[in-house]
Amino acid sequence: MLDYKKLPPTVLFIFGGSGDLNFRKLNPALFNLFLDNAMPDHFSIVGIGRSKYSDAEYKKHLKDGIDQFSRVKDTNGNWKEFSKHICYLEMDATDSKEYEKLTKIAKEKEAEAGLQPNVVFYMAVAPQLVPEIIKNVSVLESCNDKKCTRIVVEKPFGHDLKSAVEMNRTLCEYFDEDQIYRIDHYLGKETVQNILALRFANALFEPLWNRNYIDHVQITASETVGVEGRGGYYETSGAMRDMIQNHILQLVCMIGMEPPVSFNSNEIRNKKVDVLNAIRRIPKDEVQDYAARGQYGAGWMQGEKVPGYKEEDGTDPNSNTETFAAVKFYIDNWRWEGVPFYVRTGKRLHEKSTELTIQFKPAPDFAFPKEATETWRPNRLSIGISPEMDICLTFQAKRPGQSMILNPVNMIFNYKDAYEGEEPEAYETLLYDVMDGDSTLFMRADQVEAAWEIVMPILEVWAARKPMNFPNYSPDSWGPEDAEALIARDGHNWISQPAKHKEK
Ligand code: BG6
Repeated sequence: MLDYKKLPPTVLFIFGGSGDLNFRKLNPALFNLFLDNAMPDHFSIVGIGRSKYSDAEYKKHLKDGIDQFSRVKDTNGNWKEFSKHICYLEMDATDSKEYEKLTKIAKEKEAEAGLQPNVVFYMAVAPQLVPEIIKNVSVLESCNDKKCTRIVVEKPFGHDLKSAVEMNRTLCEYFDEDQIYRIDHYLGKETVQNILALRFANALFEPLWNRNYIDHVQITASETVGVEGRGGYYETSGAMRDMIQNHILQLVCMIGMEPPVSFNSNEIRNKKVDVLNAIRRIPKDEVQDYAARGQYGAGWMQGEKVPGYKEEDGTDPNSNTETFAAVKFYIDNWRWEGVPFYVRTGKRLHEKSTELTIQFKPAPDFAFPKEATETWRPNRLSIGISPEMDICLTFQAKRPGQSMILNPVNMIFNYKDAYEGEEPEAYETLLYDVMDGDSTLFMRADQVEAAWEIVMPILEVWAARKPMNFPNYSPDSWGPEDAEALIARDGHNWISQPAKHKEK
């Protein structure tokens, strides 16, 4: 059983309650929290949507989502108990007159609990609907007490810097920053949170964690799936907006940040925003030296024929949207000056894996006979975020035998071996933190804007210069040649997860 504390009574209004995010992620996460005895004693979940459902139909629909996507299935009939806390409200979120229904529900729940509940408004809707909903909920009686009201906003948080600034302005006009929880689900992953423990709870790594010892850092977030029926959304997004502006830059922050003086949520976020502020702004005329893009064509994926991006539902047949992006970042501060952070992400790549690699500078090999050093490799620390959840330190060892022959070996820590039971999924952690009022794992307005500022030059240059070679990579590959060239120019190559396990 995980160590959760008891939370105060809570009413969760989920705008987009009939949508995919609630079906696949939010409702299964809440159900798992319930199974772990982590939900408040008094809680209600109100799904809000335009689709027609009776309460019974809605619960049946959500139960299908549990059967398909829940970490723990409903083997002991717990769904029945949990679903007593769920109801559905058919409502047009653009009609301000409808909102009084929410106050009425909150009041009923308060009477049932005998205590004022915390009220959470979760925006699981298209971004263009958010400002209107925010404005409408802000005047509700339930929002009078700022300490008890929270707003959760999903990504995409803006389409570019300008729209993100505008969105922050709207949110902050009606709510205080500490009432706003901007989700980046990567921050809820156990393995991502563990980076802070690895770095700051061990004396071993921190002294080496700088430009004197680290040669470069790599981050790969590869996916085997295509756009999974989300062509309409992806067409307006692309890999840079979908993954790099948020998830990947957050990983860069975790690796790059200075030690916090406490685990206070603003202290952690201050240290992260320092990294974002120090990341070099790429001059527009140098974008081609720092970034590469790609789009997948049709081909074969693990024995199955798959369409190219331009043939996917909802995409433009002449699309210039990138489904792959690689970037070289520099953090221009004392710790990281001159250390490249190579990042790449893409759809329809050879495998599903998110992995960070810290490559240390090579040790001098002059003391060893020449033949001993044929397989000489720099030390490497690899952090598997998912699906592999492990940390692997690669170092040189002497092969058993009379001569001094060396080869790299791995020391691996794996969550599965070290801990019993399954770790919570990202959304479980994040939803629990929202109910608990802890915003450490959420994005502050300044973080979001700094992250947009970093990617804007690339996005602008890419929008202005149409790619001439799309599609430029095949399904089941590691992306376009341009990404190989980006890193090869510096004398390096991309490291992929299986290599780690093969190097035994
Ligand atoms: C989402 C993106 O934020 O992250 C998706 O919109 C992507 O396109 C997903 O597939 C990847 O998340 P994970 O947790 O599977 O690495």
